[in-house]
Amino acid sequence: MTRTPQAAAEEAAAELRSHTGADAYDVALVMGSGWAPAADLLGECEHELPAAELPGFRPPGVEGHSGTIRSISDGDRHMLAFLGRTHLYEGHGTDAVVHGVRTAVAAGTRTVVLTNAAGGISPDYAVGSPVLITDHLNMTSRSPLSGATFVDLSETYSSELRETARSVAPDLAEGVYAAMPGPHFETPAEIRMLRAMGADLVGMSTVLEAIAARAAGARVLGLSLVTNIAAGLEGANLDHEEVLATGRDSADRVGRMLADIVAEIGPA
Ligand code: 6GU
Repeated sequence: MTRTPQAAAEEAAAELRSHTGADAYDVALVMGSGWAPAADLLGECEHELPAAELPGFRPPGVEGHSGTIRSISDGDRHMLAFLGRTHLYEGHGTDAVVHGVRTAVAAGTRTVVLTNAAGGISPDYAVGSPVLITDHLNMTSRSPLSGATFVDLSETYSSELRETARSVAPDLAEGVYAAMPGPHFETPAEIRMLRAMGADLVGMSTVLEAIAARAAGARVLGLSLVTNIAAGLEGANLDHEEVLATGRDSADRVGRMLADIVAEIGPA
């Protein structure tokens, strides 16, 4: 019999513990494009290792995704930050995409913060705005779960954690995140479709990780950084360089906000 994804995560978690010396983490964070520098603001780096050193993790595939795991302490709490993630479009399947989240939960984390770079669909957003994810549309046609795992997703993004985020950043915009499989950006017609379906943001990550985290019993906070306006809304063309450049320009501001939010997150 082949190893289950859960067993793979437990194996990675055991090795992670032996690397970092911590036996549980209060919060795990997945740092998407533009968010990685925020990891420096979360606290003291206690240990850092290439994700690929742990079983089940893949080497980094995309520019801007370094694929390291950092153990951080702010004095009060232990955190685990994943700098970079595996995307569905890399072609390694859903288990590879959610392995980090499963590993974090297997290592004792009950709170998962998922960050990403997204295209703005709502006219309310400016490039460089952070947005609190209230809900999602999974447009990937995939699930990280299989078998009779009928997980309740009626509150995928914890209302308690959203409350915490808003208490720290009262002006924080909110929205529904649509995940597309990528790796291409959308056509203008697809963006009109997503807008009609209720999406405010569009990206290529986060939703499968959120589903896996909920299935594993963790609560989820989701944050997007609007790195560009989605296709057809402003007439400009899209490119990955713009996404990275906006990330760099916004890193300090959104990083500080993220660190302030995380500092207010109570025990799960
Ligand atoms: Cl416009 N679309 C998708 N799918 N992902 C993005 C994006 C757009 N902007 C940043 N990431």
